[in-house]
Amino acid sequence: MPVSVVTGANKGVGFGIVRSLCKSVGGTVILTSRNEERGLAAVQSLQAEGLNPVFEQLDICSDDSISKFCETIKSKYGGIDILCNNAGIAYKNASTALLLEKAEVTNGTNFLGRIKSTEAILPLMNQNGRICQIAAFNGILNRVFPEPQNPIRLRLLDPNLTVEGLIEIYRQYMEAVKQNDYSLFKWDAAYTISKCLLIAHTRILGRQLKDNPKNVILNCCCPGSVATDMSSHKGNLTIDQGAVTPVLVCNLPEGAGSGQFYREEKLYDWENDTFVKI
Ligand SMILES: NC(=O)c1ccc[n+]([C@@H]2O[C@H](COP(=O)([O-])OP(=O)(O)OC[C@H]3O[C@@H](n4cnc5c(N)ncnc54)[C@H](OP(=O)(O)O)[C@@H]3O)[C@@H](O)[C@H]2O)c1
Repeated sequence: MPVSVVTGANKGVGFGIVRSLCKSVGGTVILTSRNEERGLAAVQSLQAEGLNPVFEQLDICSDDSISKFCETIKSKYGGIDILCNNAGIAYKNASTALLLEKAEVTNGTNFLGRIKSTEAILPLMNQNGRICQIAAFNGILNRVFPEPQNPIRLRLLDPNLTVEGLIEIYRQYMEAVKQNDYSLFKWDAAYTISKCLLIAHTRILGRQLKDNPKNVILNCCCPGSVATDMSSHKGNLTIDQGAVTPVLVCNLPEGAGSGQFYREEKLYDWENDTFVKI
């Protein structure tokens, strides 16, 4: 029986993904949440629909929580077949927080927290496992770094870019925010940068996973514009509609390849901002 894990699933898109996995994949679907009370309430509400997810605590920003979660997976479930990394945050447009705080906190979860949790959980993936990183369309390279010769854009596109090199780019961004210097990072939106870096991380892991003996496939996607707390319920999709592309990425067929970006159930070219013609 497959074991699926969804992070940040007590509400919003993650909750929709758990519901969809319970209905379409079955087996053990683990709804994780950083807050136990909110996670258990979410499980109960799905149980009221006749579904049967289980709860485990996971805060993707806490080393302690990640390590306890990994131990629980090993001892209770053995391994993971589907991992959907959904947990994320965004400041509201109206937020008066300083850009430095927004940049640090948003990237701390959406970029650094994702790297930390994904890399810790990756070894627990079973044979033929699938990983889906929930990114966002805002992180498309051409939107964040449109100038062809922008050195950050060129580094992000470098096929030899490493995770360390990517974290160095993040540090450079934080320095630019501190200095109020947007000559390289013209885009000062913390959320957009965090998702762009996350997609770049997916591409690096995709290269590392090429021909891996376990045949684990890892990709990322945008769920679309979904009506959730994050979007102040302004998105045009319901959470069930927002779950469609993530669940597709969680179930990609053998040979689908890794390190790619999906949008509206199709492959999307991160660099050139267009659907991939097949
Ligand atoms: N909504 C959209 O239109 C849209 C568009 C593109 C991409 N996305 C992406 O889709 C994902 C889900 O967004 P959403 O709209 O469903 O947002 P949401 O309703 O605000 O839900 C976000 C979820 O992430 C959890 N979370 C935040 N930080 C966490 C941490 N450190 N550890 C574990 N869980 C954490 C939240 O938990 P708490 O309840 O404890 O805060 C919540 O369960 C995000 O990655 C977002 O960037 C959303």
